[in-house]
Amino acid sequence: MKLLFEESVRGHHCDVLPVCDVPLYALPEKRALPLRLPELSENEISRHYTALAQQTHGVNDGFYPLGSCTMKYNPKINEEAAAQRGFTALHPLQPEDSLQGALQVLHLAGRYLCEITGMAAMTFQPAAGAHGEFTGLLLIKAYHRARQDGKRTKIIVPDAAHGTNPASAAMAGFTVVNIPSGADGCVDIAALQAAVGEDTAGLMLTNPNTVGLFDKNILTITRIVHEAGGLCYYDGANLNAVMGIVRPGDMGFDVVHLNLHKSFSTPHGGGGPGSGPVGCKAALTPFLPGGQVVETDGRYAWKGSVQSLGRVKMFYGNFLVVVKALAYLLTLGREGIPEAAANAVLNANYMKQQLADVYPMAFSATCMHEFVMSLALLKKDTGVTALDIAKAMLDYGMHPPTMYFPLIVHEALMVEPTETESKAELDRVIAVYREIYAKALVDPAALRTMPLHTPVRRPDEVGAARQPVLRYAGGGL
Ligand SMILES: Cc1ncc(COP(=O)(O)O)c(C=O)c1O
Repeated sequence: MKLLFEESVRGHHCDVLPVCDVPLYALPEKRALPLRLPELSENEISRHYTALAQQTHGVNDGFYPLGSCTMKYNPKINEEAAAQRGFTALHPLQPEDSLQGALQVLHLAGRYLCEITGMAAMTFQPAAGAHGEFTGLLLIKAYHRARQDGKRTKIIVPDAAHGTNPASAAMAGFTVVNIPSGADGCVDIAALQAAVGEDTAGLMLTNPNTVGLFDKNILTITRIVHEAGGLCYYDGANLNAVMGIVRPGDMGFDVVHLNLHKSFSTPHGGGGPGSGPVGCKAALTPFLPGGQVVETDGRYAWKGSVQSLGRVKMFYGNFLVVVKALAYLLTLGREGIPEAAANAVLNANYMKQQLADVYPMAFSATCMHEFVMSLALLKKDTGVTALDIAKAMLDYGMHPPTMYFPLIVHEALMVEPTETESKAELDRVIAVYREIYAKALVDPAALRTMPLHTPVRRPDEVGAARQPVLRYAGGGL
């Protein structure tokens, strides 16, 4: 497909820029940049983007059960809330008096998310989950440093963790200590006990974990870490299963990040913008980056802290994502948030039960919002891999589940249906999953040729990862 630059036709144009609301300023000639913008009519632009959208699959097209990613349907009204000019036309350097509505959004969203997580304060600066992890680990570092406890250099990470956890810990300057999961998919308590010590800065954990199970030993786990003098970090990317039902703070966690672009109504995939706010208990709040919005007699203002670890992003983070999250929180309310979580868990367990006689499940226990199947046996018997099954699903107009993650399960397919799918849709999907498995048994060769009906069929994934083409080499204009 051609780029806009390649489609450009001299003289085509569409004048849809809003009226300029700041004084015009003529650039001195030597500063003027030669802007090489494509020239297209609105019609051409509209067709270009429609064609582009038709090349891919999004939540608005159909089922998208990408495990660990919570690709749920996000109500369009939240987009409308965030698109209001009162929010989009703000400048972050405006005087506080003229930003009262925006500050109130940050204040309210922070209060509600603190209530949901059991934390004392929250920063909206981090732009994504991994950025939140990095920020949270810097908080843990600042906490130990302020207590002059410089020997705490290690972060314990279970082997089931999302890859960003050990990466963030290493980036924050910690040594990563990996501990194995038990046969039940949960933290191996004996291994944790053996790993903690005077050098433990903390533990990173997501609960429910990346195999979709709630670790019932969570209070023992956080106690062991605290008794060793470490802090507990909650990777809140899986909060969709428990929001409004159990709180990380009550499980014993000291720091948490949330993925607003998963649980709280921002579409994601394709690169953002996202938001990974970080909350913490009172002992860590002085170190939060970027200050806090405080309310006094109905007026909102920024309050900094001399111990703050500084900024991790400019200004207020991805503010419009917070607007969407607040709109979502206010719409669902105290009853709706736990109901959404309960339905996410119900949908996952329904699908799991309906498939368990065909697809081997990696863990038989009741799952939370997602479940993991292992296709190792199918591969051994027929040569059909998890990748082949996933590719076949594309021909049925649905996105495949997450493949080959978590790493501790061979030939893994991880399914997260989310709460926004109806029973009728789940039943349709279940029938397709069963049909594909049956096909794999009788005609494995045919399965390996699928998908047959997508614009791109089987790209060279290794080539794309090893030799990515990141620079536009074409001409245009
Ligand atoms: C369990 C878990 N932790 C952390 C992350 C990182 O979040 P982000 O992709 O926003 O950086 C993800 C992302 O999928 C995740 O699933």
